[in-house]
Amino acid sequence: MTQHTPYHSFSIQSAAAGRRPTAMDLVESVLRSRREGRLPAGARLPPVRAIERQLGVSKNTVQSAYDELVARGVCVAREREGVFVAHDAAEREAIVSRSAAAPRVVATPALSGPAPSDAIKLSSVFIDPALLPRERLADCARSVLRTPGLDAFYDPQGYAPLRAQIAERLSARAMAVDPSQVIITTGSQQALDIVVRALATRRVAVEDPVYSHARFLFENLGATLSPLRLDPFEGIDLDGWRAVIERDAPSLLYSITRFQNPTGYSYQPHELDALLALSERTAMGLLEDDWGSDMLSDGDYRPTLRALGGDNVLYANSFTKKLLPSLRVGYLVAPRALVPTLVAMKRLSTLGNPWLTEAVLSEFLDRGYYDTHLRAVQAALDARYARCLEALSARMPEGCRWTLPGGGPTLWLEVPRSVDVQRLSAQMAARGVNIESAAAHFAGARHLNGFRVSYAFVGEADLDRALTILGNELREAMR
Ligand SMILES: Cc1ncc(COP(=O)(O)O)c(C=O)c1O
Repeated sequence: MTQHTPYHSFSIQSAAAGRRPTAMDLVESVLRSRREGRLPAGARLPPVRAIERQLGVSKNTVQSAYDELVARGVCVAREREGVFVAHDAAEREAIVSRSAAAPRVVATPALSGPAPSDAIKLSSVFIDPALLPRERLADCARSVLRTPGLDAFYDPQGYAPLRAQIAERLSARAMAVDPSQVIITTGSQQALDIVVRALATRRVAVEDPVYSHARFLFENLGATLSPLRLDPFEGIDLDGWRAVIERDAPSLLYSITRFQNPTGYSYQPHELDALLALSERTAMGLLEDDWGSDMLSDGDYRPTLRALGGDNVLYANSFTKKLLPSLRVGYLVAPRALVPTLVAMKRLSTLGNPWLTEAVLSEFLDRGYYDTHLRAVQAALDARYARCLEALSARMPEGCRWTLPGGGPTLWLEVPRSVDVQRLSAQMAARGVNIESAAAHFAGARHLNGFRVSYAFVGEADLDRALTILGNELREAMR
């Protein structure tokens, strides 16, 4: 291709009128044309012979001018192709930043916003680290490390004993699962990722509002979203959802069926049934994200889509919220026929996940620590949830309403339309309380005006304090 690049002309002026240009005249002429924008980077200079003939200068004069331009970095010489104008420093910088901006990653907000570390994080989705069994986990890690030698190889699907333990636990919760159907992932986030990539999903139906990092993930993978309006106070408008699904024909529905993030909504059994029927009729796959299970003591009586729909439902869950965020262990349960494709996709991105963490978690489960931990966490979170509801009743002004999830880590507080949540968030930040504005959760029109309130992350005293401040700021904003 390059040998067809046309020559770029430039005017050569001699320093002294009436005499033949020197090599330095040629150099100066090129530099001037470059400065004035008449010689772009990549332009090819005429061959030595052409200038020699046109100007009557010697071949050596032209050659030494070109050598000088190359030596100064203004031009580059390419063997058998010629001499080309090089990019200058500013252009090179621009090229680098252009190529750095080339990946398609769209801006994503931080998971819990840029809150100062001493702020009360009222919208956090995490459980208070003070309630997490860090010492017991450390014990299990020491025990695993004491076993002679480390396993050299790994199962790309995930540590087999851990897969068996997960299958057993799920089966005990009315979700009959075989260990061969479990794929261990780096948090449930990786489960969402491999499903959408392995199934080459072009369109995903999502609740609206929805967990923002699922929305960003799907969009970054090039999928188009079909937002399904979710009003947690009204329940699911099944006719509306059916109409969108029939119109858009998404190949996947991603749904957080219990204690939905961010609204705290749990699907009613008839809504689960309707979605299963719709999925069958429209050949739409179902991906259920059960992120909020096991957090409150009586939260899990509600059936999962997986329990009702069996093998047809892809099911994701995680130990990251309930046990320790930094463990990054989640899992996906899939129909047998899909497992090889999903594991192949997982292998493409990570080959396999660290065996060591999975072995530590397996030890933790094996010793029975997980069940005692869940009981303790649930007792603490039950108390915080009750306290949160009391404080909301006592402190929120007329016109506010909130969901009653009865499980998961957060509820949704809806405030009157007259309140600008973005502004409220800034005012709360100034008083040391972080609430997130929730805009990132909406894939469609923003039909709710509220935010998450966490009863899992914040201790009872802080919760009281934060809700007192919130009540006062809301009254101020509504005045
Ligand atoms: C609803 C939901 N699903 C999945 C995830 C991913 O979490 P992890 O990858 O830590 O399991 C989150 C994280 O906040 C979430 O809120």
